[in-house]
Amino acid sequence: MYVVLLGPPGAGKGTQAKRLAQALSLVQVSSGDLFREHLKNQTELGTLAGGYLDRGALVPDDVTIQMVTKRLAQPDCARGAILDGFPRTTIQAEAFAEWLGARGEGIRAVAQLRVSEAALIRRLSGRRTCRAAGHIYHVDFHPPAAPGVCDVDGSELYQREDDRPETVARRIQVYLAQTAPLVEHYRRQGLLVEVDGEQPAQDVTLELRKRLERKDDP
Ligand code: AP5
Repeated sequence: MYVVLLGPPGAGKGTQAKRLAQALSLVQVSSGDLFREHLKNQTELGTLAGGYLDRGALVPDDVTIQMVTKRLAQPDCARGAILDGFPRTTIQAEAFAEWLGARGEGIRAVAQLRVSEAALIRRLSGRRTCRAAGHIYHVDFHPPAAPGVCDVDGSELYQREDDRPETVARRIQVYLAQTAPLVEHYRRQGLLVEVDGEQPAQDVTLELRKRLERKDDP
């Protein structure tokens, strides 16, 4: 089963992808996390992607498609995946549909998380991420038990470089220009599920699960 989470920066895609992946025994595949992993490991791809991430711009489609489909071809994704941050352009959406089609698969649902711009900015300015495994916290909405330390693995929490206010503004603009058109793209295909992303995180998860179950009905 392949489920896509769609929404602006800070909408809660990563938070919900982790919760859904755990609940449905699927793997979370986050294009942003994959890029950050390459950056940390100083790979050639990481060096290329780093400049785009710092500016809040999208990494070129061909590079992104190749990286994500390579990840999806790994054995742990054999039952499908919860995709967070991919696809993000019409070209990526078409390439992903083609990749799935070649395997006799399709997208089960595309969940759009709707969150106001004021809430997005508040969320991103207070986000903290665990260095070891990307666990996500917020200084007010989801604080760790001990400040600066991940509850799960004890690693250091850091603030993402691209959560600086000027980069956040740019990322929101990029979302509106390049990714928001995918909402209509997937609505036309009957795949879109719209969810109020401003509810507490556990309520968003419950609603997502309910809506995905209904998508299972014949
Ligand atoms: P990426 O890492 O995908 O960033 P993003 O889409 O901008 O999304 P975020 O990770 O910022 O937010 P999120 O929606 O996951 O929210 P989160 O759950 O963390 O991409 C980074 C960069 O990589 C891009 O700018 C681009 O350069 C590149 N890239 C990635 N994918 C690409 C692609 N496909 N093509 C080209 N380039 C690509 O939550 C945010 C905060 O809110 C957290 O603190 C969390 O605790 C809190 N929170 C979450 N839910 C709630 C809630 N319900 N109530 C209160 N607080 C909440």
